Amino acid sequence: MKDLEALVGRTLDAIAASTDRAALEAVRVAALGRKGTITELLKSLGALPATQRKAAGATINDAKRAVTAALETRRVELEAAELESSLRSGALDVTLPGRGQAGGGLHPVTRTRLRIEAIFRQAGFTVAAGPEVEDDFHNFGALNIPPDHPARAMHDTFYFGDGRLLRTHTSPVQIRAMQRQGVPIRVIAPGPVYRRDSDVTHSPMFHQVEGLVIDRDISLAHLKGVLTGFVAQFFERPRALRFRASYFPFTEPSAEVDIQCVLCDGAGCRVCKQSGWIEILGCGMVHPNVLTACGVDPEGWQGYAFGMGIERAAMLRYAVNDLRLFFDNDLRFLAQFNRG
Ligand code: DAH
Repeated sequence: MKDLEALVGRTLDAIAASTDRAALEAVRVAALGRKGTITELLKSLGALPATQRKAAGATINDAKRAVTAALETRRVELEAAELESSLRSGALDVTLPGRGQAGGGLHPVTRTRLRIEAIFRQAGFTVAAGPEVEDDFHNFGALNIPPDHPARAMHDTFYFGDGRLLRTHTSPVQIRAMQRQGVPIRVIAPGPVYRRDSDVTHSPMFHQVEGLVIDRDISLAHLKGVLTGFVAQFFERPRALRFRASYFPFTEPSAEVDIQCVLCDGAGCRVCKQSGWIEILGCGMVHPNVLTACGVDPEGWQGYAFGMGIERAAMLRYAVNDLRLFFDNDLRFLAQFNRG
């Protein structure tokens, strides 16, 4: 019985020392399992003389109850501690500042279009739009480009089986705008255009912005004034413009406009091929046949039109040297336009 007391003492110590439920279970098995120390003692009762058996049995059973109670108490403690620590380790501090999101931004071609729109809006233009899938009349015929006109060959047109086509320029919006709202008119029309053309300097889809002004006595001087003002605002300082006589079926006279190279200020560099000048748009006085096709009397009305490539304007403004960068969607390139 002295051994029993010591055994219970050791078992209670081991219970108190158990720091997790597996250790506690090992203590339980060692004491109360089928071959446990206390179990063995109970089994040995049969060997005692009958007179001592009852008292010894009661003592051992008391010990067993004490150990069982201690095991239960410790189990509850350990479970509570485990719950507590798992709550602590999974804790979420909702007051911490967030990680933040990288902001998206506008594509440089979109930024350039919006910039061009804003400048022309200030000058009293409205912004018009037209369909990208066009018919022959709006893309060619009404623009004084009849079916066998050689200018069609230059347009590298994408055709649909039914004779419709992807517009090759924004000029058809001139026609639609005049048909829709008549004259006087003062609009620009930005948007995508398509040509079967793909190399280092050509993309099958790119963007243009068209301009059209028709009134009673609009002259080439108005065109020069508006374009000079536009270029100064777009590039944020005045630049010399050069009008080179050219040919477009829908304007007469026609010109291509060069600006003083924005990269070398006219000194001559690789971009302007040492000429000091860079072409930025085509323009002219709207051909009487175009007005007639839109039901406008060329005896009473006249005006100018122009067409400009938006990617080209963006390349000049941001000094981008490869057109393909605009279409690759590489975020390392695009993110540079949205800092700060
Ligand atoms: N549509 C022409 C092109 O895509 C550009 C152009 C030239 C538009 C002269 C005009 C213009 O309105 O007057 O090459």
